[in-house]
Amino acid sequence: MRILAIETSCDETAAAVVEDGRRVLSSVIYSQIEEHRQYGGVVPEIASRRHTEQIIPVTVAALEQAGLALPEVDAVAVTYAPGLIGALLVGVGFAKGLALSARKPLIPVHHIRGHVAANYLAHQLLEPPFLCLVASGGHSHIVEVCGYTDFHTIGKTRDDAAGEAFDKVARVLGLGYPGGVAMDMAGQGGDASRYPLPRPKVTGSPYDFSFSGLKTAVINLAHNALQKGETLSVPDLAASFGQTMAELLCQRFFDAADHLGHKTLACAGGVAANSRLRALLETGAGERGCALYLPPLSLCGDNAAMIGAQGYYEYRAGSVADLDLNAVASKPI
Ligand code: KG4
Ligand code: ZN
Repeated sequence: MRILAIETSCDETAAAVVEDGRRVLSSVIYSQIEEHRQYGGVVPEIASRRHTEQIIPVTVAALEQAGLALPEVDAVAVTYAPGLIGALLVGVGFAKGLALSARKPLIPVHHIRGHVAANYLAHQLLEPPFLCLVASGGHSHIVEVCGYTDFHTIGKTRDDAAGEAFDKVARVLGLGYPGGVAMDMAGQGGDASRYPLPRPKVTGSPYDFSFSGLKTAVINLAHNALQKGETLSVPDLAASFGQTMAELLCQRFFDAADHLGHKTLACAGGVAANSRLRALLETGAGERGCALYLPPLSLCGDNAAMIGAQGYYEYRAGSVADLDLNAVASKPI
């Protein structure tokens, strides 16, 4: 089954064609990062307008790269939740038009389920059940993937998402937007033990995260240094923050894996590209004799191929939307 997938939940306009949930026939991403960079973050109104301009050329390119015409795909999948509402609406409206005109089934896909499914594209043998750490700009979750369309949230952030914290700290350190990759690179040669940072716990919820205290500690360090006329080492601070974040994510994740007895582990979302997190996940999984699946860097960030992958399993589970499908800004996995 070939699925044409559309993704417009944030600042990437993306379309892809995926076969049987596992093979990418094409994947096209138009990134709006350059435009949003000047504002230090995504401006929702601008994101919606760019999606409106780019969605048709991006989709045409995805079909061309796959060597297919619209009648040759079997279904249209679209991210309908969660995300920026105006951005989601562009993709949902467009996908409905495509499905109606081409008489194809319309498959609604949850964005975070899509991030998890990115792993199916890279790891042909991976199948549920497994435990997945999802860390992106909007989410930080520990999710038990009981089946392809059966998810159980074990823990989540009580405040900032991991990627959001990276982005905010990067801005204060003058590393620009988006901050995650810049922080990762800046911290490569840095001394991760130079700046001891707080490691907040959520009382009574051993698998929940809290990152706002960690973020604020770095921001306060930077502001205090500025007031005193002192210079901070950006590489050391980026390394200290990155290491603390990776350790916090991994501690909770491996505690949950140990407690629930999971031997198959995965990671997903934009922050899954982080080098310190990937290294710690490899070490922890190795120590426990667990199989660890990480998406390649090209599939960590937002893309439509992951929506096509999850769309296949949603369709097989009977999830087909009517043409009154609406976008939803916030929705649990
Ligand atoms: O999954 P994603 O592309 O979009 C959302 O669904 O939010 O994640 C984007 C987030 C951003 O916050 C970005 O700074 C972060 O992922 N990110 C990283 C790295 N690459 C992207 N964070 C840490 N290290 C990285 N290498
Ligand atoms: Zn995402």
